[in-house]
Amino acid sequence: MSAQREHFSSKIGFILAAAGSAVGIGNLVGFPVAATKNGGGAFLLIYAAFVLFICLPVMLAEMGLGRRAQHSPYRAYAELGQGLNRWRIAGWLATITPFMIAVFYMVITVWIFGYLIQSFTGNLDQLATAEYFGQFVNDYNFVAYLVGVTIIINFILIGGVRKGIERASKILMPTLFLMLVLLVIFVLTLDNAWAGVEFYLVPDFSKIDGSVINGALAQAFFSLSLGMGILITYGSYFRRSDDIVTSGKLVAATDTAVAFIAGLMTLPAIFAIYPETNPESLSDSSVSMIFSFFPNIFLALSQSIGYAAASVAATIFFLLAFVAAITSLVSIIEVPTSSLMEKKNISRKQALVYMGIALTVLTLIAATSFGLVPLFSEFTSYAGSSKSVFDVIYDVFYDTILPLNGLLICLFVRFRWKREQLTAELSEGNANYKTSWLEKYVSFAIGTFIPLILAVVFTNTVLTKFFGYSFL
Ligand code: PHE
Repeated sequence: MSAQREHFSSKIGFILAAAGSAVGIGNLVGFPVAATKNGGGAFLLIYAAFVLFICLPVMLAEMGLGRRAQHSPYRAYAELGQGLNRWRIAGWLATITPFMIAVFYMVITVWIFGYLIQSFTGNLDQLATAEYFGQFVNDYNFVAYLVGVTIIINFILIGGVRKGIERASKILMPTLFLMLVLLVIFVLTLDNAWAGVEFYLVPDFSKIDGSVINGALAQAFFSLSLGMGILITYGSYFRRSDDIVTSGKLVAATDTAVAFIAGLMTLPAIFAIYPETNPESLSDSSVSMIFSFFPNIFLALSQSIGYAAASVAATIFFLLAFVAAITSLVSIIEVPTSSLMEKKNISRKQALVYMGIALTVLTLIAATSFGLVPLFSEFTSYAGSSKSVFDVIYDVFYDTILPLNGLLICLFVRFRWKREQLTAELSEGNANYKTSWLEKYVSFAIGTFIPLILAVVFTNTVLTKFFGYSFL
């Protein structure tokens, strides 16, 4: 048997680590832009309802399952599923999904690291040119940044749960909040900033349709790090005396608050520099917003505050995005790492070496699929367009498998583990849970309409992404 399982030393340690996972690039850029384009305050209301009524129950189920099993997802499903093969598939998916999402997230993090170094060294003007991003992703220099990011992540993960993940989160998360607040204050003092706030907050219900609703749910799911096995794994590092329910609520609240506050930085910055911006024209992709749009915003700022100050602002922005991305990456790489440690009965160090090699190889393949290696750039085609390796990972794992994993945990709780067991688990550390409204709601919803909604989203995504047909 493997050595005694490590646990977080405190509830706050767990909350910061889980919030570190949840707060990522999706919060800083994806959420604000989606909100502005899709009806402002109207989108915010729908999003908040999804977090509360759909995501929070799934989150509690993941954390409860993890703590009950005291294992990473693969063994958790295998043991609590009493060895039935169909539940092993759920465990396997909850292990491979984070690995593949880590590949795609790693590519973006490596680029952010590159942009951070470049803005820090005074090259903001170059970053802002139209050709820069295209050249940057098609230049083997990114390998140096990849090495840098790999070293930082391994440095954190090698320390284990308490001395690695928990300690890093305790330093990085407050730093992240501080940088975010500083940037918000700075941006709100710029001329025209309030036009952005207005676009962000004023509700426009006419924009809401099936695809906006689907998008809001997908965004909430991704943002809370659901369906990736992360909260099962972190739940397994929770002590029996700790209060999962309150912690879950706090993690969901922190993540949503950071996403909301990020909107007060992102949109006003855009409108201060480009007062004529039509929200419809903003890019859907966080990637093009971060790498093409933001450097321009900061460069334009240099006219009023000077190049040095604009470079400092850009550096803080990329550092903020980098910290958010690193704490998410740490959590997602921990999932396959801990599975490997358990399954092969090897040390953390050995597991990290294997994971590091596998992740580096796949990241190199994904990162060279933007033109550097034609085989990977034109990897396959479906729904009428050619797809790179990066696109395939994104479409399959991020878009499709995440809601499927959410659906599987609901079915698992309903049909195998049983809802009474979930209630019993969540009541440990929170004696009031058993008789609360939340318990009644979670027990009902997780066995009925939440899986139904996730099944509809999953089916619609498969049809849209791979067959070019959508019913939402
Ligand atoms: N919650 C993260 C975000 O919003 C997503 C994520 C978490 C991605 C963990 C990878 C790993 O960006």
